[in-house]
Amino acid sequence: MKIVSVVGARPQFVKLAPVHRASVAAGVEHVIVHTGQHYDPMLSDVFFDDLGIAAPDVHLGVGSGSHGVQTGAMLAALDAVFDAQRPDWVLVYGDTNSTVAAALSAVKMHLPVAHLEAGLRSFNRRMPEEHNRVLTDHAADLLLAPTEVAVGHLASEGLAERTVLVGDVMTDVLFEVRDAVAGRLSPLVAELGLESGGHYVATIHRAENTDDPARLAEVTGALAALDKPVVLLAHPRVVAKAASHGISLTQGSLIAHAPLAYPDLIASTLASAGVVTDSGGLQKEAFLLGVPATTVRTETEWVETVALGWNVLANTAEEITAAVARARPAATDAAPYGDGNAAQRVIKVLEQHSR
Ligand code: UD1
Repeated sequence: MKIVSVVGARPQFVKLAPVHRASVAAGVEHVIVHTGQHYDPMLSDVFFDDLGIAAPDVHLGVGSGSHGVQTGAMLAALDAVFDAQRPDWVLVYGDTNSTVAAALSAVKMHLPVAHLEAGLRSFNRRMPEEHNRVLTDHAADLLLAPTEVAVGHLASEGLAERTVLVGDVMTDVLFEVRDAVAGRLSPLVAELGLESGGHYVATIHRAENTDDPARLAEVTGALAALDKPVVLLAHPRVVAKAASHGISLTQGSLIAHAPLAYPDLIASTLASAGVVTDSGGLQKEAFLLGVPATTVRTETEWVETVALGWNVLANTAEEITAAVARARPAATDAAPYGDGNAAQRVIKVLEQHSR
């Protein structure tokens, strides 16, 4: 069996790592195509190096642009790649522009498409990621769902027959890296002289929180007023938007810091009093690490983290302050994201469904 994985943005490299490892272990031919959506070394190369992923076989070098320009450049470039590769499966990951471009190009070339992390929904039609997910799920031949809730969403859209529950591959990586960094000093504690358990880790990058100056000012103002230092691991989008809006990312409790490599992010999260984020991955990683999360959005795709009390949605400055100050949730042994062996299941399911 030959699989072509198409990835382009940071969270996709994390998901690719266990899939690549499981492919190699199963003797499957695995071709990696990097669209180039994320090109800064700290958003890209460092993940391949730290997570043991082979270098991409093909790099499209697409880079930044408006949604149409970025997605269109990927589509144009992928046709030739798929034509040359002719894999048994094109595997697409998550909800980025790279995901929808690869799904659309492959399905029109009559190549079987599998969508990993299928069925997540925010039901927020203003999020570009929501359109990417819905369009990809409806185009794909096989929907690899991470949770029971995702399976339910796919069923309610008439896609039950194409759906298989495999668990969450990000959980596979997280468990491994958590064990590898156990006992390691958090780089933020070491570098910034912070107290372990005496600071928060924050990430803000979504368009709905960064693009409008008043909105970004509200979020950064709330973070700057928190009771402990807040290290903002600043994605290039928030750095660029803050600069153009004239907003400082180091003010009050808020300290801007470059993004971290994945093992450093996990060590830092473990040493924090909580995370404040609009990232999909980090809210779930915090839950799996037993760290309370506050999600700066009005909805989440990872509803289990909220139901179990480890994640609170907070949109206004007042809501953010109150959510961060809340009491620590009760411990839970619920495991809605699987057992850490999802990637092996992915490969098995692809083999079973190969034409
Ligand atoms: C993308 C995904 C989002 C994911 C996020 C993770 C889409 C629509 N969004 O958002 O789902 O959660 O990645 O990080 O696909 N930039 C750089 N260097 C880089 C990459 C980006 O400077 O390596 C800047 C560019 O100026 C670009 C901006 O960041 O305009 C946004 O990048 P883009 O790829 O459009 O989306 P993200 O916000 O990263």
